[in-house]
Amino acid sequence: MRLIDKVALVTGGGSGIGEAVSHRFAEEGATVVVTDINFAGAQKVAESIVAAGGKAVALLQDVCSEDRWSEVVEQIIADYGRLDVLVNNAGIAIIGHVEELSLEQWRKTQTINGESVFLGTRSAISVMKQQGGSIINISSIEGIVGEAAAPAYNYSKGGVRIFSKSAALHCANEGYAIRVNSVHPGFIATPMVADVAKSMQSERAQKWQEHIMHHIPMNRLGEAVDIANACLFLASEESRYMTGTELIVDGGYTCH
Ligand code: NAI
Repeated sequence: MRLIDKVALVTGGGSGIGEAVSHRFAEEGATVVVTDINFAGAQKVAESIVAAGGKAVALLQDVCSEDRWSEVVEQIIADYGRLDVLVNNAGIAIIGHVEELSLEQWRKTQTINGESVFLGTRSAISVMKQQGGSIINISSIEGIVGEAAAPAYNYSKGGVRIFSKSAALHCANEGYAIRVNSVHPGFIATPMVADVAKSMQSERAQKWQEHIMHHIPMNRLGEAVDIANACLFLASEESRYMTGTELIVDGGYTCH
């Protein structure tokens, strides 16, 4: 019970990594607020946590909406009186190299993957600064190394990485007991990775998959629970001396 009595908000909790994080946190005693733009997905996850004896509720949230961030955080404070952990997890991946990407695709990626992390972090700090907390921003190995097919995604996730350090410094400077860290998953078997492959022509998808597998020293994709366990560590007191750090969970991909 590493998160006993803690209240956690997980965005994009209706699928993939967010779903695994929500389950893992609930297993360790947290009350989990699962939010997603796909409310049905979030509700299914919350219901399965409750069915397993855990504590969870689902809320509809578009992480790009500033107003909705205020409402969600206000509701959590009204219902539970505290917010201890925020996982800024919601995100998208649009494939397209620098010559083929539209400005619309570029902006959409920055808004959902980048701007939302700013909005979420700012909202969480406003309520965590009294009692402390842990903010976990899901970046990617693609926030550290480049990929020709994903410049918009690279830019957004690189931004999340360095933004997290800036916010960590601010919280420490102000004397808030708030830690801000980023997590950098490698290639994880979730609907996102499957959708990326589907969005490519079959020959390109095959090359992409071969390239990925060739570069993963552990020779397999990660599982969502591998990322959830890293988030659990950053959410718990076991990581109490860690802030502004980047935790890579990638089967060795970035060793090259
Ligand atoms: P996923 O596609 O399975 O789940 C993403 C969730 O975010 C979905 O439930 C979706 O409805 C939600 N979402 C999308 N836009 C939203 C919005 N505007 N507001 C609220 N919710 C929204 O994807 P996955 O793989 O679980 O990704 C989760 C995070 O992990 C993302 O930030 C992704 O970039 C990151 N990541 C994933 C990797 C992977 O290999 N799967 C690798 C590195 C990072």
